[in-house]
Amino acid sequence: EKGGFKHFMLKEIYEQPRALSDTIRGRVLSDQGKIVFEEFGLTRDEMRRIEKIYLVACGTSYHACLIGEYIIENIAQIPVEVDIASEFRYRNIPFEKNSLFVAITQSGETADTLAALRYAKKFGVKTLSICNVLGSTASREADAVFYTHSGPEIGVASTKAFTCQIVALYILSIGLSIAKGVFPKIFIKNLLEELLLLPRMAEETLLLDKKIQLLAKEVYRKPNFLYLGRGVNYPVALEGALKLKEISYIHAEGYAAGEMKHGPIALVEEGFPVVFIASDDLYLEKTISNIEEIKARDGFIITISSSKEEKLKKLSDRFIYVEGINSYLNTVLFSIPLQLLAYHVALLRGCDVDQPRNLAKSVTVE
Ligand code: M6R
Repeated sequence: EKGGFKHFMLKEIYEQPRALSDTIRGRVLSDQGKIVFEEFGLTRDEMRRIEKIYLVACGTSYHACLIGEYIIENIAQIPVEVDIASEFRYRNIPFEKNSLFVAITQSGETADTLAALRYAKKFGVKTLSICNVLGSTASREADAVFYTHSGPEIGVASTKAFTCQIVALYILSIGLSIAKGVFPKIFIKNLLEELLLLPRMAEETLLLDKKIQLLAKEVYRKPNFLYLGRGVNYPVALEGALKLKEISYIHAEGYAAGEMKHGPIALVEEGFPVVFIASDDLYLEKTISNIEEIKARDGFIITISSSKEEKLKKLSDRFIYVEGINSYLNTVLFSIPLQLLAYHVALLRGCDVDQPRNLAKSVTVE
């Protein structure tokens, strides 16, 4: 049942190229620069009218929402508000007209996410759920559903479901962008062509496994980790930290790199591990200056990046190069070494990777 893998988590990490490809298939007509609107259960006209989006979820799915915020605001230029479901459900939200509420949930059964969905419905807001489990409660209760086709996820730590959620949000943002006519056709066509590269690039990224395994051996005894990223990689940092803490029980925190100086840098002393996630984009220079500050305090710098910038490599104690596609899709690719790092560290610490203590696969009570 584990298909030759030692754990479901590892099997599911390795299934990502296939899961991503299944989530893309049938939704994208890249040669025509189009997407299949019906897949969202929303017409092109309904999409055109949307003026505000609420993205709501728990845990890892919440991190997908945060990534979605950057993608939708950039590609579709629609304002997005992200919230944790357990908070959203008890707020008094003055919903804006022409809003779309999106619940993201792998299981479709998370109690708080369902409550948030019902709350939005009560106010007459149009709802969409991005779910992995066919026929789940969230998929039945929302006005529309977009399925991630990750296949069953058994490991408690979400891996392939998360990266497929990012793909769903990427396709949604392109749909909204087309409907609103935000960008010229050629720009959209490029984004879709880049998406089609993703499964193969994920396959390539999995080849880093051996390298990550060696890195895990160097760091698995460390009691604390800090993960830092900017822009769309800030939520990737949050997710990297969550993955490590939930399966290895090491204390880990994710932060926006720009917040480093506002507190967390106080933790850094000799050998303190800091994981930087950086695309080859306009944030790179800023991230490099954050790395310099950690270097000056003798922290142990692990960089995961799609840039080959000499300075970046020189400053890093360990450098993991990931061949990138674009800043949005790189979040999927960067997540793979982060998942593998959490997995190997947990294994070396003798933890039960598939069934971490105190956790359930889906949280069906508040
Ligand atoms: O099924 P859902 O996506 O609604 O689950 C949400 C969270 O409970 C889930 O992502 C949790 O954080 C995972 N254990 C993370 O690996």
